[in-house]
Amino acid sequence: MNSIASERIQEPTPVAAIGAGNRMRTYMHYVAQNPDKVRLVAIAEPDAARREAMRRDFGLDGDAVFEGYDSLFASGIRFDAVFIATPGNEHYRPAMMALERGCHVLLEKPIAQNYDECLAVAELAKKNGLTVSVCHVMRHHPMFLKIKELIDSGNYGRIITVSHTEEVGIDRATHSYVRGTLNNERTSNPMLLDKSCHDVDFLLWITGAHCRRISSFGSRLWFRGENAPAGSADRCIVCPLEERCPYSAVDLYRRRKEWTRNFIPGPGQTVDDIVELQLREGRFGRCVYRCDNDVVDNQVVTMQMTDGMIVTLTMNVFTQRDCRTIEIGMTEGQITCNGMTVNARNFRTRRTETYDFSPLARVGFHGGADLALVEEFIDAVRTGSKPVTSIEGALEAHRIIFEAERSRHTGETVSL
Ligand SMILES: NC(=O)c1ccc[n+]([C@@H]2O[C@H](COP(=O)([O-])OP(=O)(O)OC[C@H]3O[C@@H](n4cnc5c(N)ncnc54)[C@H](O)[C@@H]3O)[C@@H](O)[C@H]2O)c1
Repeated sequence: MNSIASERIQEPTPVAAIGAGNRMRTYMHYVAQNPDKVRLVAIAEPDAARREAMRRDFGLDGDAVFEGYDSLFASGIRFDAVFIATPGNEHYRPAMMALERGCHVLLEKPIAQNYDECLAVAELAKKNGLTVSVCHVMRHHPMFLKIKELIDSGNYGRIITVSHTEEVGIDRATHSYVRGTLNNERTSNPMLLDKSCHDVDFLLWITGAHCRRISSFGSRLWFRGENAPAGSADRCIVCPLEERCPYSAVDLYRRRKEWTRNFIPGPGQTVDDIVELQLREGRFGRCVYRCDNDVVDNQVVTMQMTDGMIVTLTMNVFTQRDCRTIEIGMTEGQITCNGMTVNARNFRTRRTETYDFSPLARVGFHGGADLALVEEFIDAVRTGSKPVTSIEGALEAHRIIFEAERSRHTGETVSL
């Protein structure tokens, strides 16, 4: 390494943040904890309260914060990398702008909203010699890493089937995918792309196989007008059936005080004030049968892989828990995960190894995976190493999702 390069690596890497919402605040924990490696130098965020909160936290001057990424990129401020954590329909353009300007990119999923755009991001990164790391956090989660390690150990033979269920959880589903901003394909994305691109990426990663044929079924079966019970009202707060409705917004936000993380109070306001406002007139107070949702509430994807292995992914909204369960049938054993514990059973020895990951639920940051992902990205920028979540790996998962959606709409099996 020449002396200029070695001096450069001693300095913290200057980064810019595009979007200052939930995910970015999570990633910023790593930045705050590692001032020797990374330094936030600029922010683009249209919401004034969020922008100001992050500016204050990182002691930035007013001229380092912007309402949008166009002005951020035009500012002339020097940064080597950008973190992009904007809504899913605002990833492609800032990613391309960053790559055109020679910046590495930590990019929230999905990469983009169609496969051609995903490819364009990957190709520009390659052409300009830059790293794009897609935030597929499952690849850094200790429980999923253990599953991969067990498969790769060779102790259980070869995979024949994988049955993977994403239990979305009914509260998350009604909050985000029925009432919330992820409820509509036109203004957001198909639910499979938004919610399960992590899962498809994980399935490709653990199997080490490629998808040959794919079919998918799914629909919006339950959360539609004709299923509204007789006598129900447009808003839970005035609904005579509220007390026995499992999807009541009054119960979720006012009584249980759950899923209120996105209700960011303005000056002089409390979260409870926002809850009451939402219940009276906001999108989150609406009856689940009378929303503008069009995303599915159930979907199954079946993949035949290149070596004949069959992999199924079920996205199930109607679950109490919010977790992933997995059953992997192998020639010499069986690996299962119930969302908290991994069991590996060897057919010949009849021994079962058990790994309990329940303490991780208290760790936060997706069991530490969020911070590990940022660390790996920053190390890649500083040393030229390749992250496990680099865009090359993520591309195939995205392609599969677009093709699964094609299959769901046409009813045909798609060959890749
Ligand atoms: N990797 C994961 O595990 C994971 C988990 C949840 C969400 N996500 C993804 O992260 C992304 C952000 O989700 P979130 O939960 O943080 O949402 P959020 O709504 O909390 O944050 C998004 C922020 O982007 C800002 N924004 C919108 N347009 C912008 C623009 N043009 N320029 C700059 N900022 C803009 C919004 O004002 C908002 O503050 C989404 O793509 C979502 O799919 C990933």
